[in-house]
Amino acid sequence: MAKDALDPTRYPTFPPPETDPTTLASLSTYLVMIAVEEYERERDIVIKTMEDRVYALSAYNNKLDTDAEQEIEAVREGFNHNLAVLQTLLFPPLSYSSSLPSPTPTPAPHHSPSSPQPLQSSSSYTLLPQIITHLSREYTTVVPASYSYLTSKLDLDSGRAPKILIPGAGLGRLAYEVLKKLPNATVELNEFSVPMATALSRIIHNGLTVDIFSHVQSSATVGEVSSKNRLQKVQVSVLPLPQNSQLSLTTGDFVTCYSTPLNTNNAYDYILTSYILDAVPNIIEMILIIKKLALNSRSQNIKTAWCNYGPLHWHNGVELKLSVDEIKDILTKEGFVIDEWEIVVGEAYRNDVDEAMFMTDELYNCLKFCVTLDDSKEFEDDIISRIEEGRRQIKEKKDLEIVNANEDDPEEEEESTMRIEEL
Ligand SMILES: C[S@@+](CC[C@H](N)C(=O)[O-])C[C@H]1O[C@@H](n2cnc3c(N)ncnc32)[C@H](O)[C@@H]1O
Repeated sequence: MAKDALDPTRYPTFPPPETDPTTLASLSTYLVMIAVEEYERERDIVIKTMEDRVYALSAYNNKLDTDAEQEIEAVREGFNHNLAVLQTLLFPPLSYSSSLPSPTPTPAPHHSPSSPQPLQSSSSYTLLPQIITHLSREYTTVVPASYSYLTSKLDLDSGRAPKILIPGAGLGRLAYEVLKKLPNATVELNEFSVPMATALSRIIHNGLTVDIFSHVQSSATVGEVSSKNRLQKVQVSVLPLPQNSQLSLTTGDFVTCYSTPLNTNNAYDYILTSYILDAVPNIIEMILIIKKLALNSRSQNIKTAWCNYGPLHWHNGVELKLSVDEIKDILTKEGFVIDEWEIVVGEAYRNDVDEAMFMTDELYNCLKFCVTLDDSKEFEDDIISRIEEGRRQIKEKKDLEIVNANEDDPEEEEESTMRIEEL
């Protein structure tokens, strides 16, 4: 095991890095199948909600509404159409591998997954809405504030082709925006969710021309303004990125992927994070790994600017939820100089149209910042051992909590002893 990589025997990862490629391939297939099943479940919930509505309205009107019954069928067909789109995007899934990020423009999916916890879920639920809001013609004419801020930080006149890392790349819209401004940039994407990474890779390489029923999915879950919108379709038409784009992709948890030994390719002029800080299991670890990448870049005379735009509303399953000032404090302590720091109020992530389609809207207060490592300071590269130590202490605390809970509840303890004996 390389000296500066996290030791998986002490901190079990998911799946263990030693897992053989066949197992990893079936794991990705499994994750993608779960994603499709989640979407099927979503369809069944929506259909059930619609049926309940029809029964209630029929009872109220004292006659069965046959039009409504037909509409339910049409919504079901809309879902099935969307499912077929999902399946074309997701099969065959990208397979995990454990190589380092490729410097070549070919996709080089790799995985050396997260230790704290896998957060793979919700991708099927958000994938199609995200395709619509990030990649469809209606929306791509509007560049969301996050991408315009992050691309405004790129130096277009430096005279050299910069290297840019985008952790948590989602569907890659930021990469499109970066390459629009700097076609000769080398862009490295990282994405944790296998379904998302698979769709991303497919869209970026093959483009996408497809109709999606944009509203069926939301029709049962958020208040609709007009029931007529349920069967609305959106045409998504995305050109593939030009063959000569310098683009690569790493698939896996950001911290784990970049805690492996770094090489000369891991030197970045920019690290751009958009709507991701509140999605990673442990933001302190993310800050530390970005510092490690900045130090590695510095050793090759490249000064990394880390620019961020996004909320801190903390996704489900994220255990460490810091406040904005706590994050600023950690950045400063780690030797980052704050070049820009601002909270933007009420930003839309998915929905940039003026007309209200639903009675709920997603608006976020976003933290935007740009930081660089202090040139005047020397830093020790002890980051991996600090992450390990942090994990060790957290684990120790959790183990102690379990012991204390068992002591409080002797029956539970007895039961767990019995379970151990049975084994
Ligand atoms: C809200 S989306 C933002 C996507 C994209 N950056 C954008 O601005 O549209 C967050 C993305 O981060 C990914 N993600 C979450 N945790 C991650 C991790 N630990 N490592 C890498 N990517 C992660 C999610 O799968 C998801 O695609």
